[in-house]
Amino acid sequence: MCGVLQRGVSPPEIVVMASGNGSNFEAIVRATREGLLFARVKKLIVDRDCFAIERAKRLGIDWVRLEKPWQRSLTNLLRELQPSLVVLAGFMRVLPPEIVNEWRWKILNIHPSLLPAFPGVEAIRKAYEYGVKVTGITIHFVDEGVDTGPIIFQKALEVRNEWDLEELENHIHELEHRYYPRVIHAVLHGTWRIEGRRVILEEDIG
Ligand code: GRF
Repeated sequence: MCGVLQRGVSPPEIVVMASGNGSNFEAIVRATREGLLFARVKKLIVDRDCFAIERAKRLGIDWVRLEKPWQRSLTNLLRELQPSLVVLAGFMRVLPPEIVNEWRWKILNIHPSLLPAFPGVEAIRKAYEYGVKVTGITIHFVDEGVDTGPIIFQKALEVRNEWDLEELENHIHELEHRYYPRVIHAVLHGTWRIEGRRVILEEDIG
């Protein structure tokens, strides 16, 4: 994707939600600064102390930790922030149906396998130990289930015999960091429609 030139127009504001390392959060912020993703990360939302907070501090992005009960706190926060998109990036909780419903088609998630294979936690390890020859990443809209929402984008990766689990994890994360910002850009600025469960995105993400 080439640089996005939209001078004079304010970028749409998005929020990112994380619980852990925050490497996807950082990749998204960097993409906004490199002109690959026309958006502004208004806030990082976390549910616990995690390394993503350190990244937010370094990157100069506002962050907030959800208070208890986290569902109420999140409902209020999203209503206040009114983001164009809510981007889940390693957020380790299932969103309550009320929030999913209020923000339907505005919440994205990334998952490190080719769904519907290996939903839930530790997907990379599960795929590796299962012995799959092909795995990959999935970016999808969030619905009421766990990793069950309509798929926007998938990228496959062949698992080489000589890779150990760590090498596979590194390759998966590389794909995530490359493609998540592009998909977010396409959802924000591109043309797409829903046919049943099928998400038809006009843009060629690559
Ligand atoms: C990623 O592998 C993502 O697919 C999954 O959680 C992980 C988050 O990694 N949902 P990071 O915190 O962005 O480094």
